[in-house]
Amino acid sequence: MLQGKEILLGVSGGIAAYKSVLLLRELTKQGANVNVIMTQSATEFVGPLTFQTLSGNPVTTDIFTLFASSEIGHVALASRADLLVIAPATANIIGKIANGIADDFLSTMVMATRVPVLFAPAMNTNMWASLVVQKNIANLKEMNYHFMEPAEGELACGVIGRGKLADIDAIMDEIKALLSPDDLKGEKILISAGPTEEAIDPARCLTNRSSGKMGYNLAAVARRRGAEVILVAGPSAEFETWGIEVVHCNTAIEMANAIDANLEGVTSVIMAAAVADFRPAKQASEKIKRDGNYSLELEPNPDILAGLGRRSDKPFLVGFAAETSKLLAHAKDKIKRKNLDMIVANDVTAPGAGFVVDTNIIKIIDRDGQMTDFPLMSKEKVAGVILDHIIKLKNQRRLRGPVS
Ligand SMILES: Cc1cc2nc3c(=O)[nH]c(=O)nc-3n(C[C@H](O)[C@H](O)[C@H](O)COP(=O)(O)O)c2cc1C
Repeated sequence: MLQGKEILLGVSGGIAAYKSVLLLRELTKQGANVNVIMTQSATEFVGPLTFQTLSGNPVTTDIFTLFASSEIGHVALASRADLLVIAPATANIIGKIANGIADDFLSTMVMATRVPVLFAPAMNTNMWASLVVQKNIANLKEMNYHFMEPAEGELACGVIGRGKLADIDAIMDEIKALLSPDDLKGEKILISAGPTEEAIDPARCLTNRSSGKMGYNLAAVARRRGAEVILVAGPSAEFETWGIEVVHCNTAIEMANAIDANLEGVTSVIMAAAVADFRPAKQASEKIKRDGNYSLELEPNPDILAGLGRRSDKPFLVGFAAETSKLLAHAKDKIKRKNLDMIVANDVTAPGAGFVVDTNIIKIIDRDGQMTDFPLMSKEKVAGVILDHIIKLKNQRRLRGPVS
């Protein structure tokens, strides 16, 4: 989603300046054109040449730098951009901007721009906690500047506490949120993600290959687009999702209960989790020993999706059909049987689709039998088209009136 975006990256003089090199890498990797502005102090920590080489653009450090033609540098850069991110943001740059001081290129440009400005502060714990820094931040927030909360941990000065630069992935997520439309504002979406685990004995379990990537991407993109999101997630080592409430669970029964307990006010449910259809009929309290043959009796788990489809207060319901054969027939049958509004079907045997990988190939089918085919896309893009489709179908329904 950053393809073709113009990002300004302001780097001020903190020890975390080296981490903004990683942020620059991630921004360019995802398609953004980045212009870097460094304060004089920042150049004491990392050389401008590093940023210049990695961005492919000249780095500005001086307000009196000559620009192409008769452009006035800070105004020209500020007017071309989609977003300005300052990472790391020192106590000094925060203080200057909060008080209207524009005595270098970066602080001048903040005044000259109308695009969203995101600060990612990094400083010593006591500096972060100081009243003056907190007051400056509160004033800037009131003026619609955006802030990342610094992370907790061991700082470069050896102190343990809050003040580390927020995680690069978290900063990337916030940048994308600020660049996304707010078209899901007012929606409360419950998304299930990942596999479930059904214990056989204390050491072993029945599970599946779901990584949770599809559900996590749906949650991240929905949040960026303004939805309130509740993520009910089975066991998965997938990345953290910022600003999203995660309700953790293990078994299918725990997932059913977690969904049930969190349905209040929910407008849409997207069941991206791969819920185990069966569980061991008995769970051994001790690890089962290897003597002779062993057979496992299974009993069915509750069908969470069908249960939601039967509710009188059914939210807009989206199911997934991960199939290995007769994809369309199975998907259409599932939509009817479970009273869904929409189903996302994918053949998990196709290269680049299904579990674990970062891409997917999907078809979206609605309850009128309309089918839309999509090519191979990243799971982030897939999340976007699924959410677009939900909005489209809900709008059609509003025009047509309720459909039971
Ligand atoms: C080794 C060293 C590390 C520093 N780290 C930080 C820091 O992490 N955060 C911060 O706010 N200031 C830090 N400072 C202080 C700033 O460099 C100083 O306030 C400077 O004036 C900031 O200028 P700038 O905001 O124009 O970049 C550090 C200073 C030194 C010498």
